[in-house]
Amino acid sequence: MTHSRRPLIAGNWKMNGLTDEAMDLATGLVTRMTKMPNAPFDMLLCPPFTAIRMVAEVLAGRLMIGGQDCHAAEKGAHTGDVSAAMLADAGCTFVIVGHSERRTDHGETNAVVRNKAKAALAAGLHVIICIGETEAKRDAGATMDVVRSQLSGSVPGGANSDNTVIAYEPVWAIGTGRVATPAQAQEVHAEIRTWLAVRLGDEQASQIRVLYGGSMKPDNAAELLALMDVDGGLIGGASLMAEDFWAIAQNCIS
Ligand code: PGA
Repeated sequence: MTHSRRPLIAGNWKMNGLTDEAMDLATGLVTRMTKMPNAPFDMLLCPPFTAIRMVAEVLAGRLMIGGQDCHAAEKGAHTGDVSAAMLADAGCTFVIVGHSERRTDHGETNAVVRNKAKAALAAGLHVIICIGETEAKRDAGATMDVVRSQLSGSVPGGANSDNTVIAYEPVWAIGTGRVATPAQAQEVHAEIRTWLAVRLGDEQASQIRVLYGGSMKPDNAAELLALMDVDGGLIGGASLMAEDFWAIAQNCIS
């Protein structure tokens, strides 16, 4: 972390969160946040679509809320999908796009991800664009190629440090308990910032937040969040327990 970028601690609940669990989790975090009015970090919850409205009510603006995906179209005949405007209408200010589980389970290409990001920005949402290599690509020494081509393909025109966050999530670390070493994470984050500098200019690149995601837990968050080019976390499993998620965020306090 560096002082010029405000850390973002984002919880990706994935397909978890029935009413009772969602309410308990949101309430637990609001209670903690209320006791820390000048917290030096932003906290974002991304519940499943069905829980967004009720969680937004509990959060009452004290934590931010986002969707986990959106459709690229404004509206229309897309059964089962949700538009960026619908997320905004439900209280969201953020949306995650291009998560590796979307890329794998739903065949989302970089072009699809870019169109979703574009739609999110058009709807006035902030977007978290996820990228990251598979284990096979890392073993083949192709990590940087994958990261650069995902950035080139997925980041839309109009992206800037106010409206866009990049999340580096090595696929082999997501939900596996295997976490990138600090050296691995810093190396890729620095490469992402170099790419951003070429694409958006030095000033924007120095301001844009780049999150790490993949088995971030209370016991490994300190060393990851201390890295110069890591500006927060996108947290799955450990975001489902208020205590753990909050513990991770405490590493943003210097
Ligand atoms: P994990 O998930 O923390 O459970 O590894 C992170 C993510 O997929 O965003």
